[in-house]
Amino acid sequence: MHEPCLAAARAAMQQSYSPYSGFKVGAVIVSDQGQTFSACNVENASYPEGTCAEAGAIAAMVMAGQRRIRDIYVMGTGEGLVTPCGGCRQRIREFADADTMVHICNPEQVRKSMRLEELLPFSFGPEHLDTPPATQQG
Ligand code: THU
Repeated sequence: MHEPCLAAARAAMQQSYSPYSGFKVGAVIVSDQGQTFSACNVENASYPEGTCAEAGAIAAMVMAGQRRIRDIYVMGTGEGLVTPCGGCRQRIREFADADTMVHICNPEQVRKSMRLEELLPFSFGPEHLDTPPATQQG
């Protein structure tokens, strides 16, 4: 059941622009409406200004007018699990709910699946603010 998303993540990884780190990452979001959005990491010569694959996939989802992540697949290579960085955990959190699943993958398979809550416990989110987005424009 993961295979279509693994294939999309592999395709995203291949588009990675990561000449500085040499570390290709692909991310695929499945929205609550069942649509998929994928992206890769995009680096630049000013190293800290690169963007993670997850950030690109979130931007694509928002651009399509969608706001809820049901699943997110993050794919990379190497021994260690390629989990979302701290910043991306918060980016995912913005559009996640209690059931949002994060699937950590290599090109062959899903290595580990977990709820966002496990990756980012005691998180801070929109509902902590006096004016959460539901009451604002956008
Ligand atoms: N990277 C991602 O795209 N997502 C992650 O979850 C971890 C790290 C990218 C950022 C950078 O282009 C490269 O991987 C090495 O850190």
